Amino acid sequence: MKNSLSTVITAGLGGISLNSLALTKATQLESEDLQHMHRPKDEYDIHFMAVGDWGRNGADHQLAVAKQMGKWADEYANDFIISTGDNFYPSGVVSEHDPLWHYSFENIYTAFSLQWDWYPILGNHDYKSDPDAQVRYSNISRRWKMPSRYYSKTFALKDGRKVLMAFIDTNPMIPEFYANNEYGPHVAGQQPEKQLAWLDQLLASSDAYWKIVVGHHPLYTAGPRTNNYDTLAVRKVLETIFEKRGVDIYLSGHEHSLQHLKVEGKRFHQFISGAGSEVTPVKLDLPYSRFVMDQYGFFYFSINSTAIECQVISHEGNQLYKTVVQKV
Ligand SMILES: [Fe+2]
Repeated sequence: MKNSLSTVITAGLGGISLNSLALTKATQLESEDLQHMHRPKDEYDIHFMAVGDWGRNGADHQLAVAKQMGKWADEYANDFIISTGDNFYPSGVVSEHDPLWHYSFENIYTAFSLQWDWYPILGNHDYKSDPDAQVRYSNISRRWKMPSRYYSKTFALKDGRKVLMAFIDTNPMIPEFYANNEYGPHVAGQQPEKQLAWLDQLLASSDAYWKIVVGHHPLYTAGPRTNNYDTLAVRKVLETIFEKRGVDIYLSGHEHSLQHLKVEGKRFHQFISGAGSEVTPVKLDLPYSRFVMDQYGFFYFSINSTAIECQVISHEGNQLYKTVVQKV
């Protein structure tokens, strides 16, 4: 029986014996490996883009930024996309079936290279309707991944070290929102102290080499909100945790510009990627600003075990800024 089966298979393979096939070492290529073969290799293990403050039905350069993101991710390695909030202007979405999902997201970020995972957070404009509709959209979309209003992800570098990313919801941390007609009903019952305890515990217990926090409101900004109530409110509750727990980067949106700020004596770098559509003016004379520009565009981050490279790319595909963050 054994002999006859071997004879049949050999015949089906056009005379190639099973023994000769067994000596050929099989490759382990997956389709993703083949897709990425044409891209230039660099020394980094993880790559992602960050865009913020974008949902305007394509208007005010949203479409131009989206197209450039698609081109960039086609040309360079990219593992996922972060949205830093204010995903839908002017007032969020009313449900996971709101037509704005098509007008402002699906029909805008259409490039094939943008069909990978998106990790979004909620901005203040998203709080003017139903923030949980954006969580529920994760059940409909393959690429929109928001499991809850705040959550975390851990990524492995090639040498086994880890990158922790905490995606937080800064809206309930702003006391003024509770008395606001539009924000009030949606921040009610959010228990910011519970989220802050979660964040503190997450960062304290993590053995990640890099710790990155993503939230909508900046702690520092060279935009119009340098001393605004929302900037001061989130700084008050978050800065101590960041410093105590060794956060390397805080990435936000909210200000409609592209910024890299580093306050003397503080460990963390503040990046602002909030120029996914509209732009607003920036101040050029703040002592802690390293780069500020009122230009449309997005950030591109590359991470390995020794550095995080940050690039700022305009809606026209120009590299506006490049820097490297290293461990202190
Ligand atoms: Fe905002």
